[in-house]
Amino acid sequence: MTNAGGLHPEWDDLDGGGAEGSALVDALGRPMRDLRISVTDRCNFRCQYCMPKEIFGPNFAFLPRSAVLSFEEIARLARLAAALGVRKFRLTGGEPTLRAQLPTLVAMLREVPDVEIAMTTNGTMLKTLAAPLGEAGLDRVTVSLDSIDDAVFRSMNDMDFPVALVLEGIDAAAGVGLPVKINAVVRRGVNDHTLLDLAGRFRGTPHTVRFIEFMDVGTTNGWKMDEVLPASDLVRMIDERWPLEPVEAAYPGEVAQRYRYRDGAGEVGVITSVTQPFCGTCTRLRLSAEGKIYTCLFAADGVDLREAMREGASDEVLTSLLESTWRAREDRYSALRSQSTPGLRKVEMSYIGG
Ligand code: GTP
Ligand code: 5AD
Ligand code: SF4
Ligand code: SF4
Repeated sequence: MTNAGGLHPEWDDLDGGGAEGSALVDALGRPMRDLRISVTDRCNFRCQYCMPKEIFGPNFAFLPRSAVLSFEEIARLARLAAALGVRKFRLTGGEPTLRAQLPTLVAMLREVPDVEIAMTTNGTMLKTLAAPLGEAGLDRVTVSLDSIDDAVFRSMNDMDFPVALVLEGIDAAAGVGLPVKINAVVRRGVNDHTLLDLAGRFRGTPHTVRFIEFMDVGTTNGWKMDEVLPASDLVRMIDERWPLEPVEAAYPGEVAQRYRYRDGAGEVGVITSVTQPFCGTCTRLRLSAEGKIYTCLFAADGVDLREAMREGASDEVLTSLLESTWRAREDRYSALRSQSTPGLRKVEMSYIGG
């Protein structure tokens, strides 16, 4: 954790960003390094923990086309955020691959110097999109796959999508040279009995499986602490089957804690958002599909940049909105999570992209 005002010891390379060359940090000393860009609030899955059918049914009011940022608007904000220190763009949704012409956006973002471009996807469209996305300049993909057991997976996505389609997507991405990570949300009593098989399926491949503790994001997923399987238990389970050793973080603030299989069969990771929150090193700004910026996954409100853009705001004005929003930031929801916080008003995960 950082002290208010004091920098995390590993952020000694703060560069660029901020007025008069001073580094841009928030109220808790955290720099702005990642921009998670939601390109659509729609998804072809209805994961019960994210877009339950009862709420995201046929009558749900998704954003109308006119409300969604154009590629030009997204690229403009991304460029301004990069000038303030952002070094990674991550495309999210909903499901980002449902946004028409996504490779065109990637090519536009690629023009911003010195940033990595990643995408978090459910993988169902990768068979056709991996190649054009790679050609446009995408650097890597993270594919959500909650179970390798077909029946469990079909029931978790609640749209009867088979595991095989996602595996084909993963192969397509790897086949065009995109590094792939796999994300699995763990719900005790739902998919925990299938997780060793999931780890086993990707042992011996370059794809790291990362198990995510089920979080109380949004207000619709009926989160209960009982459903959280602590990552430490899971690491113990995997270690008993295939001995593990911890791996150093790849960068300060890396979300996943990684472990290496001692027999050399690759790596596995855990994302301990509930049992060991990582707010102290959280450098993420989130941009919703309709152009609001959020300083936390659990925020209730965002700052609207679309309105400003459409009213003709200059780059300087947009930059100062980004800067002032970041400087005022003191979010650390996961670190403060308590009995009462799960009931608070929050933005939905499918709207903000995880
Ligand atoms: P890389 O390490 O660059 O691959 O990316 P990442 O792990 O930051 O991105 P990814 O989208 O794969 O994040 C994995 C999951 O971690 C998300 O889907 C969320 O469930 C969780 N997560 C990511 N960022 C945050 C965050 O800021 N706060 C919390 N509480 N959870 C997060
Ligand atoms: N808890 C943890 N992770 C979640 N995701 C969606 N909802 C939750 C939740 N309640 C994950 C998805 C995907 C990413 C976008 O967010 O599985 O990996
Ligand atoms: Fe779609 Fe991802 Fe939400 Fe599942 S978790 S409904 S795949 S956005
Ligand atoms: Fe960052 Fe908020 Fe997640 Fe903490 S809870 S890691 S501040 S997004």
